[in-house]
Order: sequence, then C-alpha cells, then structure tokens
Amino acid sequence: MARLAIVYHSGYGHTARVAEHVRLGATSVDGVSASLMAVDQIDWQTLNDADAIILGAPTYMGSASAPFKTFMDQTSRQWLGQEWKDKLAAGFTNSGGLSGDKLSVLFQLQLFSAQHGMLWVPFPLMPTGTGPDDLNRMGSHLGLMTQSDNAPAEITPPAGDIRTAELFGIHVAERALRWLAGRSRT
Ligand SMILES: Cc1cc2nc3c(=O)[nH]c(=O)nc-3n(C[C@H](O)[C@H](O)[C@H](O)COP(=O)(O)O)c2cc1C
Repeated sequence: MARLAIVYHSGYGHTARVAEHVRLGATSVDGVSASLMAVDQIDWQTLNDADAIILGAPTYMGSASAPFKTFMDQTSRQWLGQEWKDKLAAGFTNSGGLSGDKLSVLFQLQLFSAQHGMLWVPFPLMPTGTGPDDLNRMGSHLGLMTQSDNAPAEITPPAGDIRTAELFGIHVAERALRWLAGRSRT
C-alpha cells in the first residue's frame, strides 16, 4: 500500500479543484491511498507517515502563494531531522496566465523537496496540443501546470487540464508503488 498526501493552498478554489482531481487520479490506482490537506488544515502525523507528498500552490506574483510558503516554513523541524528523506515528492501549480511564471513555482517546490532529501518525480506526459481539451497543453515536464481564467472554479481550468491533473495523480501513485517495491528489496 502506498500512502500519498496532497498538500495545497487555494485562494479562490481553482488549485483546490486541481488538487481534488490529482487525488481522484491517484486513488484510481490499486493499492494507493491519498489524503488531501489544505495548508491551514494539515494533519502532520499523516503527512509525516506518507510515502509521497504532492505539493500544490497557485502562482501568486511569480511565486508560491504566501499561505503555501508559510506551510513550507513550518516544515523546518522535519528538515532539521531530515525526517522526510527518501519520500517521493511532486508538484503542481495553477495560474491565470498561460505561462504566468508557473515554472518558477515548480522550481521552488522542487528545491523545497531537495532540502528535505525527497526524490522529485517529473511528469513525462507528452502534450497532445495546446487547446483547452488537450493534455499537458502547457508542455510542462517538471510538474503539473494548469491554467484558469478569471471565472468560477467549476468551469476553469478547462477539461483537458482537469484530465491532465488526474493523469498526474496516476503517474505519481504508480511511481510510489514502484519505489516502495524497490525499497523492500534492499
Ligand atoms: C495575489 C495574486 C497574484 C497573482 N499572480 C499571478 C502570477 O504571477 N501569474 C499568473 O499567471 N497569475 C497570477 N495570479 C492569478 C492566479 O494565479 C489565478 O487567479 C489562480 O487561478 C488562482 O488560484 P486559486 O483559485 O487556487 O487561488 C495572481 C492572483 C493573485 C490573487
């Protein structure tokens, strides 16, 4: 059994909807459980026990949002003891712009994971195109990128991004199972 935790912040609901579909994808994989946690409702025990942590933040001013950064800073105790070493890590971000400087946030999440000694899982899903129904339409491979317009989260990000989020969840879940199987051999 692989235990995933998805930690996210969402000011206006868009990243929350993406996070929920990452969870749906992950839990569609046999032998995988996934706990969804907003940054203001962290279950630290469940997070510390997770085999893989998926980090999700909206891009605000070219950076992870301030509440998500607060969460990052709250993990300094785990960093001190390298308690999360060898967990898998992966990340996603949602923003209003097609680019919107989302890559900066994925770099930020990856570096955070490296500080914790976690192993970053990239996202090798080939883009099917650049339209709203396409998969990985922003061609992101470091992590999951989604884009929302200035409209309610029920209608944006578009269907292709939502499906991409599910495939991202499946991908990380499958890597976690493989990583756990490999670790048991050593
Ligand atoms: C304070 C603030 C800063 C933002 N900065 C960016 C930005 O740098 N790039 C971008 O593309 N969108 C930016 N946006 C738009 C958000 O990324 C977009 O609204 C996103 O959907 C918000 O996700 P959420 O609903 O999960 O909070 C910003 C929004 C806010 C409120």
